[in-house]
Amino acid sequence: MIELDHPRSPDALPATEPGRPAAQRWRTDRVLLGCDYNPEQWPREVWEQDVRLMREVGVGLVAVNVFGWAEVQPGPQRYDFARLDEVVELLHDHGIGINLGTGTASPPPWLTTAYPQILPVAEDGTTRWPGGRQAWCPSSPVYREHSLALVEEVARRYGHHPALRLWHVNNELGCHNGLCYCDVSAEAFRGWLRERYVGIEDLNAAWGTSFWSQRYGAFEEILPPRLTLSTPNPSQVLDYRRFSSEELLAQHLAESEVIRRHSGIPITTNMMVTAHQRDVDYWSWTPHVDVVANDHYLDHRLEDPATELAFCADLTRGLAHGRPWLLMEHSTSAVNWQPVNVAKAPGELLRTSVSHLARGADALCFFQWRASVQGAEKYHSAMVPHAGTDSSTWREVQELGSLLADLPELAGTTVRSQVALVFSYENQWAADAPNRPSELVTHLDQVLGAYAALRAVGVGVDVVEPGADLSGYQLVVVPQLYLVRDADAAALDRFVSGGGHALVTYWSGIVDEDDRVRAGGYPGAFRDLLGVVVDEVHPLAAGQSLALTEGGTAARWTERVRLTGAEAYLHLEEGPLRGGAAVTVHERGAGRAWYAAADLDEATLRSLLGEVVRGAGVEPEPGAGPTVEVVRRHPADGRSGPTFLFAINHGDESAHVPARGTEVRSGDHVDGQLEVPAGAVRIVRIPAQEES
Ligand code: GLA
Repeated sequence: MIELDHPRSPDALPATEPGRPAAQRWRTDRVLLGCDYNPEQWPREVWEQDVRLMREVGVGLVAVNVFGWAEVQPGPQRYDFARLDEVVELLHDHGIGINLGTGTASPPPWLTTAYPQILPVAEDGTTRWPGGRQAWCPSSPVYREHSLALVEEVARRYGHHPALRLWHVNNELGCHNGLCYCDVSAEAFRGWLRERYVGIEDLNAAWGTSFWSQRYGAFEEILPPRLTLSTPNPSQVLDYRRFSSEELLAQHLAESEVIRRHSGIPITTNMMVTAHQRDVDYWSWTPHVDVVANDHYLDHRLEDPATELAFCADLTRGLAHGRPWLLMEHSTSAVNWQPVNVAKAPGELLRTSVSHLARGADALCFFQWRASVQGAEKYHSAMVPHAGTDSSTWREVQELGSLLADLPELAGTTVRSQVALVFSYENQWAADAPNRPSELVTHLDQVLGAYAALRAVGVGVDVVEPGADLSGYQLVVVPQLYLVRDADAAALDRFVSGGGHALVTYWSGIVDEDDRVRAGGYPGAFRDLLGVVVDEVHPLAAGQSLALTEGGTAARWTERVRLTGAEAYLHLEEGPLRGGAAVTVHERGAGRAWYAAADLDEATLRSLLGEVVRGAGVEPEPGAGPTVEVVRRHPADGRSGPTFLFAINHGDESAHVPARGTEVRSGDHVDGQLEVPAGAVRIVRIPAQEES
């Protein structure tokens, strides 16, 4: 083993800012290109080539030891850092910063053989065996103890290494093992419930256990919501999801605490802010990271993956409270875990990377550096594909590297929006629970539908959590906020009464935080704000749609709306509720509250959003539209410097975007009109005096 001789002086540490609030301690003076690196899969001679190529393309941040446990701890009390030391030194010698994995993501076989109680158990009681990855129960004290022992060794060894830029706790906490139903989890859940409720009767009231003979006499009788014959208690499931998210956060906090004893380097964990991640509530996590880091992969199971990417990037910035964030993983081309793994089209690597960049990312990292030739991910794309560097992927990686080198002043700049969109994980959990009025309606459809319509009218959005400070916004869009707390509903009402505009979409305001219906008519918590009462909802059958009097259609969802202050803006032309309202508008105090009581077709939703945006005095970004993204990054508050305008053309025709400044790639002066050819990306640097 090599002994490392590292400076212990805090002066040698990178830009940490102790004393500042969490999520604000990390900064970089240039946007970083980075990757996951798994050199243990390759012979030593390949490493030399790797670091040379990394330098060539401008890689500045490399994640190592993410799945290193079995190698660095080959047995109980035995540690072997020889290879990791070599890798760390090699990267350091080439001036490449390290994003060091704690290595705890996947327990090694010796550990799960000795302690099979670590293994997670599915809803149906079956064990999830080792042989894949992340086979550990988030509530397991045995896993916790052994994982922290590993973190201690790693942090002690590398905590002051001069190449260390960031700590990477675990990996995608909750990916695969977010919900565990074993006996250990059951006991931990009971402990969590004892803290949450004053006593068992309090829990019985919150869960509505008088229904179906579910009343509990003692906490000992409670189980996780294991597979049942009929639909399980929805309030119990909701609490189990809250509990499970907190158990994963507890692992992050425990690992972070160990690291902080040995190192002053900023700490993060890679989140999964994507459409398909539903097990973790990240709003409660972000105060506990020094910088928000996200992993995002295009999801071709969705109708419009590029819109989902943009939404997730805006949500990630929202989680970071507007501060720059890191894209810790994305792919150069196809992934390996979708039914059909669609490769990126020519130019798409750049378009997708720049879409994250435009929305506030200060690092663009890929999973992974070199494509594996063995294992379950061997058909996952990488920066160096199986074909090697004589490949279109490598050339696009080079192009991205050189683009980032042309943007030295971009790091630390931020995005400003006049519109907020409310998103809540616990609301999604509750809204998508079984036995709802229509399974044709999913929460994500509502969110992405509203987001896509805003994007189509050229309006940028900040994604915020319910109850967020809305004072800086002119318009708040609230897609299907089914579960809402009293205080959060009141905050929205105050925003509108004080002069703000809001658009709420159907099946909002329905239940409180225990999933208890707010009786007295829908939309419950928002009846006064919206000036309507709904007696009954009328979902439509699959394939059915109803014409609207003003043109357009409603499908999937309609409501029997009674106006109690609002006016009908769009009407149902046919069906049992014909003549009734599909969209209403209510002048409330000094503001205006719109309600979409029906599921509108795309064009109608878009034109409604256009009207709502105009009425709120929000200015769309000139040139932006359904296929052309235009986003600006401005200097952070209190700083001066240029603004950057990003124009991304996802369409098949050339677009024109009004702009003045210098196009950063070509150096061309842009004097009024920026041409953005089909499929291209253009970035204009606007000097401070031009922007103001
Ligand atoms: C996740 C993981 C990576 C890798 C990628 C593949 O993001 O963190 O280790 O498995 O998925 O897409």
